[in-house]
Amino acid sequence: MSISPWWPGFSPVAHFKGLKLVIYFMARPKILFQCQSCGYSSPKWLGRCPDCAEWNSFTEEQKITGLKRQGTAEPVALPDITASHDTRISTGIKELDRTLGGGVVMGSVVLIGGDPGIGKSTLTLQSMKGLAKLGNLLYVSGEESPEQIKIRADRLNITSDNIILLPETSLEGIIDQARKVKPKIIVIDSIQTIFSLELPSAPGSVSQIRECATKLMFLAKKQGIPLFIIGHVTKDGAIAGPKVLEHIVDTVLYFEGDKGNPFRILRAVKNRFGSTNEIGVFEMMESGLQEVENPSQLFLSERPENVPGSVVTVSIEGTRPLLIEIQALVTASSFGVPRRTAIGVDYNRINLLVAVLDKRLGMQLGGMDIYVNVVGGLKIDEPAIDMGIIAAIASSFRNKVIATELFTFGEVGLSGELRAISQPDIRIGEAAKLGFKKGVVPVSNSSGADDFNIEITGAKNVEEAIEILLF
Ligand code: TYD
Ligand code: MG
Repeated sequence: MSISPWWPGFSPVAHFKGLKLVIYFMARPKILFQCQSCGYSSPKWLGRCPDCAEWNSFTEEQKITGLKRQGTAEPVALPDITASHDTRISTGIKELDRTLGGGVVMGSVVLIGGDPGIGKSTLTLQSMKGLAKLGNLLYVSGEESPEQIKIRADRLNITSDNIILLPETSLEGIIDQARKVKPKIIVIDSIQTIFSLELPSAPGSVSQIRECATKLMFLAKKQGIPLFIIGHVTKDGAIAGPKVLEHIVDTVLYFEGDKGNPFRILRAVKNRFGSTNEIGVFEMMESGLQEVENPSQLFLSERPENVPGSVVTVSIEGTRPLLIEIQALVTASSFGVPRRTAIGVDYNRINLLVAVLDKRLGMQLGGMDIYVNVVGGLKIDEPAIDMGIIAAIASSFRNKVIATELFTFGEVGLSGELRAISQPDIRIGEAAKLGFKKGVVPVSNSSGADDFNIEITGAKNVEEAIEILLF
């Protein structure tokens, strides 16, 4: 028996003892379940995604059959574009340019993700002010009417003839218009509202998002123009998150911040054309997003004086040092199980550092509620701020103030040792620039300060550091 080769559009032909059997395949839709958070698919419904550990994120989708279509849903041949298209255009917003790695690369696809209402549309519209000098921009809005966008543009003082608004949600319609208008830039706001008529699933589902993003990406690559895709992030997994798109696009920027707080951080988590973890800092004002040129100063501007539980530490975000205030509150717990709350830092890290304080410094924190907060809505996951967290907790526990001109940084090990961290000179320099007089840092980091007018003390372990800080 032999089976003739398979190619798309033909059924295999099996030759069996001289008999010719043609096997026909029924085209029937295949059902599968897909995680709306990460795109993992399974033949059965699952309560928890084995890939991204999200709960309750599976919904039923129709499997896309046919070899051609399956090919398009995969990330393909993106890396090829760098060499020939490596020209950058400035958006006119320095913080955004920096996060992008020095401007927008022609033919690149940029995903801007973030919670609804955080300011994605505002940032994108503001960046169009600078980009409009390229020529026509097609701003596709599936969420807001042209009138709404016009009102926002007026508020942001944007008056360019080159910005063309398209209130459209069908992918086919968008591609048609893009062919007619021949824009120099396309913006999709948001990808969750766009759907292809060729797919049965609802807008916002994994297959729609992938299909639409991939088709739009092909269009952008072919014409060598930048494509901005805005995507909402949701915690409950009701609509597919931008995570699904991360591997399709070139650059992923996340816009972070608290709704109650005007500070916004734009963070590059993936960048084919620049370094990742670069951040841009903005403040949301009446007249749109304002760039914050000196974030350290801003984050420290409301620091209370002479209050226990507050300390300044230095983190490096991308290429830039950031002075941040860490606050801790330690109070006797009125319940059997003490509360531990961490805002802006990893919860498990807090537990670990509390255990170090307990064991190495004999602080009886077992019956205490502990709250730790990074001021300004920042999220920091750098171990360099360990010493800051420890100092803030110790200061609150002992009810002793850490002097305002002091700062500290360093990674804390399980035996209470203070470990060296990277780029101490940049951190110390930033503190010196903002008027700090003294720093307590790991011993092996203490030699980086020679060039600055600042007194640096090296500490071997947490105990030594606390002694100096809480003097
Ligand atoms: P928006 O860009 O619509 O958010 P997203 O696209 O991420 O959903 O921003 C909405 C919020 O920003 C809204 O709460 C109002 C606020 N905002 C200002 O404070 N100032 C402004 O100039 C603008 C345009 C919006
Ligand atoms: Mg929006």
